[in-house]
Amino acid sequence: MPEGLSEAASLKMGMIRELSHAARDWLRKVRKAARELFMIDRAIAAVIRLPVVISLGAVRHAPHGRRTKILREAIRSISRPAPAGSAEVCEINSLAHFNAGYARLASILGHAGGDSSPRELEFLNSIAKRRTSYPGNIGPSDYFFLTAFVSILAPQRVIEIGTLTGFSAAIIAAALARCHGSDGASWVDTIDINVECAIDRTRPSGFEIPEGFPELVPLIRLHVPRNATFASQIAKRDELQVIFIDADHRHPMPLLDLLRVAPWVRSGGWILLHDIQWGTMGRRAAEGGQTPHWRASYGAEWLFDHWPFRKISGGNIGAVQLPREKNALIPFALRMMSIEFETAEKYAHTMRHALYESLGALC
Ligand SMILES: C[S@@+](CC[C@H](N)C(=O)[O-])C[C@H]1O[C@@H](n2cnc3c(N)ncnc32)[C@H](O)[C@@H]1O
Repeated sequence: MPEGLSEAASLKMGMIRELSHAARDWLRKVRKAARELFMIDRAIAAVIRLPVVISLGAVRHAPHGRRTKILREAIRSISRPAPAGSAEVCEINSLAHFNAGYARLASILGHAGGDSSPRELEFLNSIAKRRTSYPGNIGPSDYFFLTAFVSILAPQRVIEIGTLTGFSAAIIAAALARCHGSDGASWVDTIDINVECAIDRTRPSGFEIPEGFPELVPLIRLHVPRNATFASQIAKRDELQVIFIDADHRHPMPLLDLLRVAPWVRSGGWILLHDIQWGTMGRRAAEGGQTPHWRASYGAEWLFDHWPFRKISGGNIGAVQLPREKNALIPFALRMMSIEFETAEKYAHTMRHALYESLGALC
């Protein structure tokens, strides 16, 4: 009992406190019911997604000294929206078609006449024998495309977002080793948000690299727990030619990853995206009466489909090319932000903030 208060007074205070808590809870319930009845939350979310509101947000969050540039791009996003471009197609669905697919991709990428090496086929052939396939890994037609893409462009290094077991990092590293050797001149930086592998918490992210591809260990640098912002620590502005994004596929995460790595990719460089048909695949499976054990997301699919610049589809994997002027990404990104997010509503504000922040580095 507080000093100086009689028992009756203290009892009275306790009752008042309880009554005021009950009244507050009741008011909360009434407010929540009213919001649901009049769909206030939905209306607010719809207003926040209006292109003009998003553009104003971008200007408000623009870093000092870049407001005018962001404003110009924001106006462009509303007044002259660039239509989605159509993709060139190069699917490599079997090993038997690898050489033909490689030649076609080489021609699309401006390296006509490029042939795959017999070592390439030998390595791809060995994969089924040397490993178990884990859920979440890229599949055969994806790694045929990824192998061909990296071999043709032969970049010095590649950054990957989304390691999981390390399989796709190994695929990239193997292609780099064939182009540049294994003496440290070339490597993959693979970044994952999880220290423990997302599909098996008893093992570390990237566990498959030493287990299945020990000869590639020196070519792969694992960075955990990190996200795409870490690219700023390991690359120079406009340095990279190829990035592979295969992390969180919920819209707008692939867009955010792309915007976060774009400053470190040169103009005309390529960003490979996995699961560009995942949303549609999930919808079709549901329509066919299947209940997939995964929740399909459209983030990578929408990003690829709406991309207004050059792009190549390899089926469920694709590559988008950065425009000559990277600030052309800003109106595109602002328009993508009008599409309802697939990430949890409670993170929407943080997501929008992160997206606005990433735009500042593009102009
Ligand atoms: C689909 S798996 C990657 C599969 C891998 N590329 C392969 O084929 O072997 C996605 C991975 O992205 C990671 N991840 C999820 N969100 C991330 C983020 N924001 N940044 C970095 N990694 C993320 C997960 O921990 C998971 O390991």
